[in-house]
Amino acid sequence: MSTLFQPLSLKSITLRNRIAVPPMCQYSAIDGRVNDWHVQNYAAMARGGAGLVIVEATAVAPEGRITPHCAGIWNDELAQAFVPTLQAIKQHGAVPGIQIAHAGRKASANSPWEGDNHIADEASGGWQTIAPSPLAFGGQLNKQPQEMSLADIARVRDDFVAAAKRAREVGFEWLELHFAHGYLAQSFFSEHSNQRTDAYGGNYQNRSRFLRETFAAVREVWPEHLPLAIRFGVLEFDGNDEQTLTESIDLTRGLKEAGLDLMNVSIGFSTSQARIPWAPGFMGPIAERVRREAGLPVASAWGFGDPQVAEQAVRDNQLDLVMVGKAHLANPHWAYHAARELKIDRASWTLPAPYAHWLERY
Ligand SMILES: Cc1cc2nc3c(=O)[nH]c(=O)nc-3n(C[C@H](O)[C@H](O)[C@H](O)COP(=O)(O)O)c2cc1C
Repeated sequence: MSTLFQPLSLKSITLRNRIAVPPMCQYSAIDGRVNDWHVQNYAAMARGGAGLVIVEATAVAPEGRITPHCAGIWNDELAQAFVPTLQAIKQHGAVPGIQIAHAGRKASANSPWEGDNHIADEASGGWQTIAPSPLAFGGQLNKQPQEMSLADIARVRDDFVAAAKRAREVGFEWLELHFAHGYLAQSFFSEHSNQRTDAYGGNYQNRSRFLRETFAAVREVWPEHLPLAIRFGVLEFDGNDEQTLTESIDLTRGLKEAGLDLMNVSIGFSTSQARIPWAPGFMGPIAERVRREAGLPVASAWGFGDPQVAEQAVRDNQLDLVMVGKAHLANPHWAYHAARELKIDRASWTLPAPYAHWLERY
C-alpha cells in the first residue's frame, strides 16, 4: 500500500519519500541574487528529511519578480549564486528543484510584511508591469499593467527557456514552471485577466497558447531524463469551476503528450472574488480528478501539514507527492516528526548521524 514514506521515481530521479517542500518566496535576495539565508533555509528542510526541496519562485526576467527582493535567474551570475543552496540540499539527501516564474501583473509589489501592495512608482523602487491585457488585479495590486505585444510574449517565452538552461547548468534536477497563482502564465489562461482578441486570447485554445508554447520550448532544452513539472491553478473557486477544471484537465492531457512529467495542482488566484473552501486536504479530491482524468502523477499543497492528512492523501491515491509548506517553516524537521507520528519503520526515514544517534532512540 502506498504511503508517504515510500520512494517516488520519476524519470531518472528517485525521491526518498513523497514529501516535498513547495516553493516559498523568502523575499531576501538582493538584486535577484540569493545568499546565505537561502542556503540555511533550504538546507534545514533537506536535513529534516523531505524528499524534494523546490527553491522559491525565481524570476526569469527582472520585471517578473513579485518584489524587488525576489530571487532571479536572468543571467549566469545569478544562476551561479544558487550553487551553495542546491549543493546543501543534495548533501542532505533531498533532490534540488527550482520554480522559474514571471509574476506578470502581480509584479512590482512590496514584501508581505511591508504591505503586499503594489509599489507606487519607479521613484519608490517599482517598475512597469506587463500582462496579457491592461487590467489590474485590483485591491492592493491596483497598478495597471502594460498589454504585452507579440514580441513581448516571444521574449518572455525565451526568458523561460534561458532560465531553464541555466537552472540545469548549475545542477538543479527538478524544474517547475510557475503557471499558477495569477502570475503571468495563469493570467493568460484566465478570462479574469485575459481579454485579448488575437491568437493569445478568447477561446481556451488561445488562452492556453502561451502556456503550451512556453512549455514546449522549455521541454526542448530541459534534459529528457529529468522531471519537468508545472504548477498550475486548475480552478479559481469563482463559481465557474466545472468549466475551468474541464479546460484545465484537457490542457494537462496535451501537456502530458508534450512531455509533462508531473502537475503540481493548485489554485488560479486570478480574482480577488474567489471563495476558497479552506480545510485540511481540501485540494486532494481535485488533484485526484486531474490525476485520474489526465493520467499523470500529481502533487498538491494547501493544508497537508498534518501528517495523518498527508499520509491519507497518498494512501487514497489522490497525490503522488505531498507539498508541505508552512509546516516546514515552523518545523524544518517535519518529515522526522511525521515518521514518528505515523510509526513508520526506521529503515524508511533518514536523519543525519549526529541527530539520528539520539533521536531514533526516544
Ligand atoms: C512564505 C510563502 C511563500 C510562498 N511562495 C511561493 C512561491 O514562490 N511559489 C509558489 O508557487 N507558491 C508559493 N507559496 C505557496 C506555497 O507553495 C504553498 O502552496 C502554500 O504555503 C500552501 O501550502 P501549506 O498549506 O502547506 O503551507 C508561498 C507560501 C508561503 C507561505
